[in-house]
Amino acid sequence: MAKITTRRGNGVATNGHAVAGHVKDLKLAREGKLRIEWADRHMPVVKAIRARFAKERPLKGVRIAACLHVTTETANLARTLKAGGAEVYVCGSNPLSTQDDVAAALVAHYGIPTYAIKGEDHKTYYSHILSCIEARPHVTMDDGCDLVTVLHTKKRNYLKDVFAGTEETSTGVTRLRAMAAGKVLRYPVIAINDADTKHLFDNRYGTGQSTIDGILRSTNMLIAGSTVVIAGYGWCGRGVASRATGMGATVLVTEIDPLRALEAAMDGFQVVSMGEAVERGDLFVTLTGNKSVLRREHFLGMKDGAIVANSGHFNVEIDIPALERLSTGKRQVRQFVEEYKLKTGRRIFLLGEGRLINLAAAEGHPAMVMDMSFANQALSVEYLKKKARTLKKDVYKVPDNIDRQVASLKLASMGIVIDDLTPEQDKYLRTWSEGT
Ligand SMILES: NC(=O)c1ccc[n+]([C@@H]2O[C@H](COP(=O)([O-])OP(=O)(O)OC[C@H]3O[C@@H](n4cnc5c(N)ncnc54)[C@H](O)[C@@H]3O)[C@@H](O)[C@H]2O)c1
Repeated sequence: MAKITTRRGNGVATNGHAVAGHVKDLKLAREGKLRIEWADRHMPVVKAIRARFAKERPLKGVRIAACLHVTTETANLARTLKAGGAEVYVCGSNPLSTQDDVAAALVAHYGIPTYAIKGEDHKTYYSHILSCIEARPHVTMDDGCDLVTVLHTKKRNYLKDVFAGTEETSTGVTRLRAMAAGKVLRYPVIAINDADTKHLFDNRYGTGQSTIDGILRSTNMLIAGSTVVIAGYGWCGRGVASRATGMGATVLVTEIDPLRALEAAMDGFQVVSMGEAVERGDLFVTLTGNKSVLRREHFLGMKDGAIVANSGHFNVEIDIPALERLSTGKRQVRQFVEEYKLKTGRRIFLLGEGRLINLAAAEGHPAMVMDMSFANQALSVEYLKKKARTLKKDVYKVPDNIDRQVASLKLASMGIVIDDLTPEQDKYLRTWSEGT
């Protein structure tokens, strides 16, 4: 492998060659590799794609900048893209979500330049994104649209090399659609989030379970018997609400969309305004993709000891500056738990600095579910290499055949066999003449 020159200090891969990167500690690499291999055992679809990619090398010559949560599952995606012939550069998509052992293993064992350190400050976070952009990517793989935004604002001279991109999450897709509507977007992007095999599973079951996991690891609270307020009944909110209710909580839902609110009510949840919820909630979880969902007037109405957490993409869902202004002081009382003492004498506990709690305090989604999201990523990049030049500078759905292929591969890996249409049924579904 050739020596890669970048702006950052080098790590040393196991083959002795220098690999660029900026990670916390390369000595963590062995532990990271073991965890990456563990996740790989639970990612049969990505593994099958990797085996095919290694034979066919469909991504040969493609440079990919991947701004993703640096987790074990992301490492397996990066390995897969590399097996397909791509040159892959990785940076974190959130300052608190990086798993430092995984970042070290990517550099030291897999020879993938990686720029990510858990707890990095704002400046370092953006300098890591710049390191990936300076690798002159042809494809951007983003989670939240920060990489794309930097490219379209501060680093426009690198845009000419990029022919396509993918976006992992709801918030990133919202930002990209705004860019496309404003005619600012310079290349086509596939919205991985909108694949059925992504949001129906990753957002619902992945966020559902891992958000509770992050809350439990940081607080060790008992969910049973507590009142949990879920802000936002989208794919993620549905997941967390159903898990919390399954664990014995009384779940209140807040919404701004009448359809989603109606669905929550018919799913059996109490739908209330946040103004009402604040007086009742023991634990608040925001999953809206919006800002200031919990704000000054809400903090003032909360019970003493209320716990607030966010699992939406950005740390703006909880208005932390407002919380700071209302407080006489704050102190860390456990890892990922900060106590804010309000001037009223009440205390509010903020988890994970308001960043996605499932990645800040736990390990993010289980590999079994990321298997499908990242299979969509790998197959979409392969598709874009062939088709990007025929696409407009817009946001596209994952092609239906890829979505269905991922579902079929996942079912096969689970040993589940489904029925085929009989010829008679096939014909019946195509006809309009046969009625009552
Ligand atoms: N934690 C994770 O690992 C993870 C995984 C996937 C997605 N996400 C992020 O979670 C967020 C939600 O994703 P989603 O797929 O559920 O999106 P979604 O669009 O399906 O749902 C968001 C819901 O929030 C509601 N909402 C908006 N503003 C609100 C407000 N002020 N009060 C109450 N409800 C409000 C919307 O009406 C909508 O129903 C996004 O930021 C997404 O990027 C996080």
